[in-house]
Amino acid sequence: MTTAGDVALSALIGESVVMREMRDLIQAVARTPLPVLVLGPTGSGKELVARAIHAASASQGSLVCFNAAALTDSMFEDTLFGHVRGAFTGAVSDHTGLLAEADGGTLFADEVASMSIVAQAKMLRAIETGEYRAVGAQRDKRSRFRLVSAANDDMRLLVTEKRFRSDLLHRLAGVVIEVPSLAERRGDIPALARHYLTLESGRDLTLDDDAAALLAQRHWPGNVRELRHLMALVAALSDTRVTMVALRRALSLRLESEIVLAIEMPERRELSDALERHGWDTESAADELGIHRTTLYRRMKRYRLTPPALASHMYDAATQ
Ligand SMILES: Nc1ncnc2c1ncn2[C@@H]1O[C@H](COP(=O)(O)OP(=O)(O)OP(=O)(O)O)[C@@H](O)[C@H]1O
Ligand SMILES: [Mg+2]
Repeated sequence: MTTAGDVALSALIGESVVMREMRDLIQAVARTPLPVLVLGPTGSGKELVARAIHAASASQGSLVCFNAAALTDSMFEDTLFGHVRGAFTGAVSDHTGLLAEADGGTLFADEVASMSIVAQAKMLRAIETGEYRAVGAQRDKRSRFRLVSAANDDMRLLVTEKRFRSDLLHRLAGVVIEVPSLAERRGDIPALARHYLTLESGRDLTLDDDAAALLAQRHWPGNVRELRHLMALVAALSDTRVTMVALRRALSLRLESEIVLAIEMPERRELSDALERHGWDTESAADELGIHRTTLYRRMKRYRLTPPALASHMYDAATQ
C-alpha cells in the first residue's frame, strides 16, 4: 500500500547517496516525537523535507506553517498563541493561535534564525512545557505538537554571536537534517531537470544529453528552485526537444543567476522599498519593518542591498 508518507518522500527527487540517506533518515525520525531542525541553502528543498516528515509521521493532525522572519514580536505572540476577546482594541472575538491548530500535528517554523531574542524566549517556553498563554488570557493552554524548524543560516555561528539562544537551539535540534546543495549532488541534476521540464510545460519534452551534461556542470546558487525556473523558461522556448542551442538561449535570457535569485525574493523587495522610503536610514527602516537593526543589516548583506553612500565594509563591520 502506498501511504501519504511514501508520496511525500518520493517528491524528494534524487538517487544520489546523500538523497537516499536523507530519505531514510526522514523515514526513521518521522515516527518519533523528536524536534527536527532542517538546515540547508536557499532553494535546496527544506520545506519539502518538512512536509515529508509530517506526511511520514502518519499524524492525524495538521501541518501548520509559519515564517518567523515575517513576524514582529507582537505579531509573533498573537499569531502563535492567539488572543481572547477584548485583549486589545480591535480584538472583537477570540482568535485561535497556530499552536492550538498544530495540536496533535506538526508545527513548521521556517526561517527560525531570524527570530528576535524576545520571540526566542516565548518560543522556548512554549516548546519546553507545551504551555502557552493567549494574549489577554487568564490561564495557560496546552498543545502537543511535533516541531520541525528550518534555517539557512549557520545557527552555531548565531549562537556564538549571541544572536540565538543556545538552549533554544538545543530544543529545536533533537535531530538535524542537512539538506545538500545541488552542487553537492550533481548526479541528480538531469533527473530533476527532466522532471521539471514535464511538470512546468505539461508536455513530454526530451532533454538532449549534451544539454543535460551542461546543466550538471553549472553552478547553482539558487539550487533546485533555480533549476526549476530555468526549466520553465527553456520549455517555453522548445518544441518537442530541449537542445543545447535552446538551453544556451534560455541561459542568455536570464540575468546572472545570483542576481536573479536576489530579485526574485519578495523579502528583498520589501527591504529595499522600506530603505528607499527612509532614505536608507536603517534605524527608521528597521522600525517600520518591525525588525532589529542588526537583522536588517544581516539581510541587507544577504540580499546584497548596498546603500548608495555606504561602502559594503561598513555594514560588514556592523554585522560582526
Ligand atoms: N529534492 C527535490 N526534488 C524535487 N523538487 C525539489 C527538491 N528540492 C527542492 N525542490 C523544489 O525546489 C523548490 C524550492 O524548494 P523549497 O521551497 O523546499 O526550498 P527551501 O530550502 O525551503 O528554500 P528557501 O530557503 O529559499 O525557503 C520547490 O519548488 C521544490 O518543490
Ligand atoms: Mg523555504
